Amino acid sequence: MRELLEKIRADAKAQLSDNDADIEALRVRYLGKKGELTAVLRGMGKLSAEERPLIGQLANEVRADIEAAIEERRQEMQERLLELKLKKEKIDVTLPAEGELGHIHPLTMTQRELEDIFIGLGFSIVEGPEVELDYYNFQALNIPENHPARDTQDTFYITDNILLRSQTSPVQVRTMEKQKPPIRIISPGRVYRSDAVDATHSPLFHQLEGLVVDKGISMGDLKGVLELFAKQTFGEETRIRFRPHHFPFTEPSAEVDVSCFACGGKGCRICKGEGWIEILGAGMVHPNVLRNCGIDPDVYSGFAFGFGIERIAMLKYHIDDMRLLYENDTRFLGEF
Ligand code: PHE
Repeated sequence: MRELLEKIRADAKAQLSDNDADIEALRVRYLGKKGELTAVLRGMGKLSAEERPLIGQLANEVRADIEAAIEERRQEMQERLLELKLKKEKIDVTLPAEGELGHIHPLTMTQRELEDIFIGLGFSIVEGPEVELDYYNFQALNIPENHPARDTQDTFYITDNILLRSQTSPVQVRTMEKQKPPIRIISPGRVYRSDAVDATHSPLFHQLEGLVVDKGISMGDLKGVLELFAKQTFGEETRIRFRPHHFPFTEPSAEVDVSCFACGGKGCRICKGEGWIEILGAGMVHPNVLRNCGIDPDVYSGFAFGFGIERIAMLKYHIDDMRLLYENDTRFLGEF
């Protein structure tokens, strides 16, 4: 009987396979109610009183041994399965993404198109800090202490003399301080104003500043540059119109309109019946500003202009709500 038990132990272990169903069949065959081990135990009645406990003990050992072997094999298989699964589901983050490809944001697209126009006219691009000194954003630009633009309602102040620039015009001053004429630069970038968000306002938006300083620069040069810019941006038929205005850092100053690219000037929904659309502020650089930057206004003159890039993008692409430019809704972005 001892040999029979040892044989059962050896056979059962040798037959252990890697298949769930086979393992279960093996368990039933050896350990089940009608299994081989049970059959041996049933025959124990024939044994002598001395032998019975010894064989009984051995039978229990064999059962425990086979059970442990089965359990171990099942464990192994589970681990192997998990490993396989992990290998199969491994993500290679260095692979290119599947599906839709992204593209340049319409606002960036607009900015680059505008930059290209001015680069074509011989301008270079200069950038300035968004966290700016009061001096560059206001003082040096001839904006007096009590000017409404300095109100904390309009400008984000960090300290008494540090703020988030409310316009790109401080880059004019920074450029003129460092570079002697001839100067021909544009400066695109973010600006900040303490405005509530709505269809045409955002506390963060983008402007593009232009500055030209040299000997003999006149209002005619400003008109020529802006006319070229308008035609290239809105179409060859576009005309421009100067309306007198006031900016502390230009004199004379003007607000500049373009003839409506939708109706050609007859008046329509886009130009609100006006025939003209206001797009920018401009003027001849104020002598005080030139002086503040160490440039002699009796020798040099210049012009400057500034406009909102969002506004141009909205007009160009018929976007009626500015928020669409910031919300990253792919239904909107997919249109471009
Ligand atoms: N900085 C002015 C604004 O934000 C625009 C401007 C720039 C006007 C340059 C004149 C000259 O409204």
